[in-house]
Amino acid sequence: MSDILRRGRLSKSPDEEMRAYTSSMAADKWIFEADLHVDLAHTLMLSSQGIISKSDGAKILSGLLQIREEGMESLDFSYEDIHISLESRLIDLIGAEAGGRMHSGRSRNDEVATCIRFALRGELLSLMDDLMVLQRVLVALSQEHLTTIMPGFTHLQHAQPTTFAHHMMAHADALERDIVRVISAYSRVNLCPLGAAAFASTGFNLDREKTSRLLGFFKPMNNSMDAVSSRDFLIECAAVFSNIMIHLSRMAEEIIIWSGQEFNFVELDDTYASTSSIMPQKKNPDTAELMRGKSGTVIGALSALLVTAKGLPLSYNRDLQEATPNIIKSSEVTCASVRMMAGMLKTMTVHADVMEKQAPLGFTSATELADTMVRDAKIPFRTAHQIVGTLSRSSSIEPTLEEIDAIAVTVIGEKLSARGLSKEAIEEALIPMKNIERRAVLGGPAPVQMKKAISDKEKQLSMF
Ligand code: ARG
Repeated sequence: MSDILRRGRLSKSPDEEMRAYTSSMAADKWIFEADLHVDLAHTLMLSSQGIISKSDGAKILSGLLQIREEGMESLDFSYEDIHISLESRLIDLIGAEAGGRMHSGRSRNDEVATCIRFALRGELLSLMDDLMVLQRVLVALSQEHLTTIMPGFTHLQHAQPTTFAHHMMAHADALERDIVRVISAYSRVNLCPLGAAAFASTGFNLDREKTSRLLGFFKPMNNSMDAVSSRDFLIECAAVFSNIMIHLSRMAEEIIIWSGQEFNFVELDDTYASTSSIMPQKKNPDTAELMRGKSGTVIGALSALLVTAKGLPLSYNRDLQEATPNIIKSSEVTCASVRMMAGMLKTMTVHADVMEKQAPLGFTSATELADTMVRDAKIPFRTAHQIVGTLSRSSSIEPTLEEIDAIAVTVIGEKLSARGLSKEAIEEALIPMKNIERRAVLGGPAPVQMKKAISDKEKQLSMF
């Protein structure tokens, strides 16, 4: 190899180990397409500014298009990164007289920062799409299960009855905040560092507005030192990805628990299940488990980025090369996980009958019973809480008026029946669906509220 970078200042070639240690070629596959676009835009601008001749510009452009045709495989992987390898291939193709002019007024420092932003914004756009697909799946499930009763949990103990729709829409609401965070991060990713050169800009009369516009960025970044050296946009995106993965991991955890024999609320489609190499009967929720596990990878990438960026003096430092694979990995895992979750949810079987049977267990109507006492017998909530609490020690989930009166006498010296509590009101309070219907305040599980929440979400999603 005749290394186009090393033939000036350096007299020796790196050995294999040093090459492997310092090269970013493997990770740079992610920015191959971006780098070509950056080269094309920079060349067009150099030529329209008269910094290079139109004919050299044309040669460079056609060389770049040829490299694009050939693909990344045509490049020499022994170079330390894609930028120099691509430039070297260009010089091979069109000669140094024209090819050697492409890098005028530019450094790999502004080049790589531009490429990362270019590639990442594409990932953010497809992530937004995938998140909306997942939201649509959650909305469709909610629509279908508006009145599917299930036990709601706190501390993983049966707490109060709710509906499967209420549970699924809770996840959809969390994902909505994720989408807003992706959109917000996008506005800080889509800024153009090109023209900052190494860090001090350049004496060539570049048109930074033009390259920024050609590459589809909102605008050029201001300070050239900041442009090449900041990676806060990576930290921000990795934090956004981590939040998404935390949400997916919680959903995955529920799928895992719910598909176990003890719950049996759902069954994953065979596509998303695995089996055991020894136990022939097993159907394991491996996809959901891996999603839970992969959330660790994404959160790990965020910590790696934070630690890499911490304490770096201005401006460019090669440490920054170590940051990029973390964003590649975390973005790839997050996008795939969102798609995988949509597939799992869309195809899983919901055992509405099992959920419904489980709904009253654990005296889940206890709160509604206490509320009924407050409404009908006009006692304070704390007193009702004590009476129902005492009642639930006897583990009955269907207490009678007589049992309630007996405890009320010991607590307040009076029967609740004497204060207006009826047998019918108690019976009604113990019906899970009545509990749900009564919880009709904004955000509650009552079908009337959920219908509204679903149609609001549908309206929102139809705008995209
Ligand atoms: N491969 C480097 C990176 O990813 C870009 C090249 C800058 N290298 C340099 N020695 N200034 O950050």
